[in-house]
This record gives sequence, C-alpha cells and structure tokens, in this order.
Amino acid sequence: MRVFVAESEQAAGRWVADAVRDRAVRGPQVVLGLPTGRTPVPLYAAMRDDAARGRLPLAALRTFNLDEYVGLGRGDAGSFRTEMDTTLFGPLRLSDAQIDFLDGRAADLAAECARYEAAIAEAGGMDLIVLGIGRNGHIAFNEPGASLQARTHVETLTESSRAASVAAFGGRLDAVPTTAVTIGMGTILGARSVVLVAAGASKADVIRGMVTGAVTTWLPASFLQLHTDVTVVADRAAAEGLPPEAWQPLA
Ligand code: PGA
Repeated sequence: MRVFVAESEQAAGRWVADAVRDRAVRGPQVVLGLPTGRTPVPLYAAMRDDAARGRLPLAALRTFNLDEYVGLGRGDAGSFRTEMDTTLFGPLRLSDAQIDFLDGRAADLAAECARYEAAIAEAGGMDLIVLGIGRNGHIAFNEPGASLQARTHVETLTESSRAASVAAFGGRLDAVPTTAVTIGMGTILGARSVVLVAAGASKADVIRGMVTGAVTTWLPASFLQLHTDVTVVADRAAAEGLPPEAWQPLA
C-alpha cells in the first residue's frame, strides 16, 4: 500500500484525475469504478476541467459506480445516479453505453446484483477503482461487521453511514434509506488498481487503522492491505495519525 499525502483536497483530486487520464490516453478503453460522496468532488471538478480543455479522451471511458440506495435510481433526488449525472456524466456528455449503474429500484435486487457482476466481468474487469472511505471503515457500502461479502449484494446501512449522508436528504435522518446495493469486497479486490482518497480529520483514525492495523472485517478497508496495487491519497488532516515512515508527500 503506497500512501501519498497531498497539500490539499484539490491536489489529491488532481492527482487522481491525472491517473484516470493517463490510463484513458493509453486506450482504447479504461474501465473505471467510481465513488460518490464528498470526497470525489475535487476529482470530478478536475475531470470536468480536463474534458473542457480537450485533455481527456472521453470515448475511452467506461464507468461502473460502487453503490446505490435501495429504492432510488436515475432521476431521483438523493440517488447516487443523480449525483453522478449532475457532477460528471452530464458535463462530460458520456453516452448511456459508457455508463453502468446499480438500479436501486430494480424489482428483483438479487438479479440486479448478478447482472452488475456479469457486466463488470464482460467489460474485462475494472482497470482502476476509486474509493472513498467511511468513518467506520466501509469501502463502497461494505459495512463493518462479523463477516463481509465478496460479490454485489444488498447491505443494511449502519447508523453512522446513514448519519453521514443526511445532507443529501434535507438533513433528515429518517429520509436516508436503510439499505443499499453495493459491489462486494471481492469485486473491489478484483480491480487491477485501487486508489483510495481520504480528506479531513474525521477520517484520520480509520486511515491509521487501515494502513497500520490488523486486517479485520470490522474495518473493511483494511482488506486493501492484501491487494498488490493500492495507492492511498490523503490530505494532511486525514493522514494525521500515520507514523512518518508510512507515507510520502505527493510529488
Ligand atoms: P464521503 O463518503 O466521501 O462523503 O466522506 C465516503 C464514503 O462513505 O465512502
């Protein structure tokens, strides 16, 4: 696990956008796993900027997202799909054929999860998956617990994850869905490269645990220690708890 510490969230986002662009330039296609939430906001701003300057080969992009709330989908307020449409897919004018997304409104969620796994496999697997991290150590919506699941599945959200998401639901905890569909731990570990981004002091404890602690189902991100190509990009606040030998400054 390589850990880079960036001077700012913007610098971290720019670094990840450059990693995406490098792979897209190599072409002919780059299969991405993409996150939602606060963390990737600077990344998507940097990608919009690259697209506007004609520096990002848009036709090479093929995207999968990590997760979606059960009951929500395209066009719904609060859905991850709507967030992605607004912040990235719309501005980049990606076509429907380039985007795959879990449909939280699917009548048969088990079939939807199986469809998604098959679609990722059919695309050749993910070249680069970008992850945020929950304060409780979740990656995608794989929540801490006595066990974890390998493949795309329905997950019951923890109180802390729901509380962290209230902003997208008018500040009302009771409006935040209680379940989500999410790619599994094996789906994540199957990506050829993993980049995990973390910003802010609220992530410092969990970043320390992930980098220096034990591999445990109670901190799902700790399983990334077992992947051979993981880069963590943290801002100074999120890296605060790391010993000096565990990281290097972002070049
Ligand atoms: P955040 O969420 O980027 O909004 O902090 C990260 C996550 O829960 O994975």
